[in-house]
Amino acid sequence: MLERLQKIISAAGITSRRASEALILNGQVTVNGIVVTELGSKADPEKDTISVDGKPLKINAQRLYILLNKPPGYITALKDSQDRPLVTDLLKDVPDRVYPVGRLDYNTEGLLLLTNDGDWANRLMHPRHEIEKEYHVRVRGKVIDQQLKRMAEGIKLEDGMTAPAVVNLVKSGEQNDWISVAIHEGRNRQVRRMCEAVSLSVVRLKRIRYGALQLGTLRTGQFRYLSDAEVRELSGEPAKIISAGRPQREERPKSPRPDKSEAPKRSKKPERSGGKSSGRRQQ
Ligand code: URA
Repeated sequence: MLERLQKIISAAGITSRRASEALILNGQVTVNGIVVTELGSKADPEKDTISVDGKPLKINAQRLYILLNKPPGYITALKDSQDRPLVTDLLKDVPDRVYPVGRLDYNTEGLLLLTNDGDWANRLMHPRHEIEKEYHVRVRGKVIDQQLKRMAEGIKLEDGMTAPAVVNLVKSGEQNDWISVAIHEGRNRQVRRMCEAVSLSVVRLKRIRYGALQLGTLRTGQFRYLSDAEVRELSGEPAKIISAGRPQREERPKSPRPDKSEAPKRSKKPERSGGKSSGRRQQ
């Protein structure tokens, strides 16, 4: 069946749909040995030999779906001009090249998905799906209700207002507070910039949830493969919480909890909430 070249390339796991278009425009793609630079061009992945930079695509490669607990100090990219550690360096014995679904900053840690299924990655990243991502943020000093409220209601950043978010105080420590921030947008450094906008200094930033998928107890630097059910739920309409390594639970937890091994010890202070109510979705 004839399909658009950029769709075939991204589905083969080389890169995203948009980056595949760039490969075509740059003249890096050939169909049966002929360079194709026109974006609307189609080919038949079953019959044609499609190559990128001279290498034939592996059309029916095994699909891989990986959840990595990214440590800080790793680049979410396949190469780095400064030779810093790459997230893919952590994927020992993974049988094919995978690339990240979205990105986490160099110093952000936590849940990162990687795959060689370009269609799946595109579905997850499409703004239409509005997949909610939740972060735990350790901030210097004490947080006040007004700061949480402003972040929850939407904040003016240089690239426009942020959508309403769910923002809660999770823990209060001696030196730092922990807050949770759940957003469905994916702007560059969004959580850090939201914190900066309300004068909160970020000490540590960790993604703990992506849609219904929780980071769970996976250790820093470790990865696991997603189950078929997790893969399907993430790209469809997630209805249930999926905890890493455990059976599915039927409902959301009442309030977000930080990773016990890494968050400060529980304080006796009452929790405050910047969302309309603790843990409730606003959109
Ligand atoms: N928001 C940020 O500021 N950084 C990330 O890495 C992810 C979300």
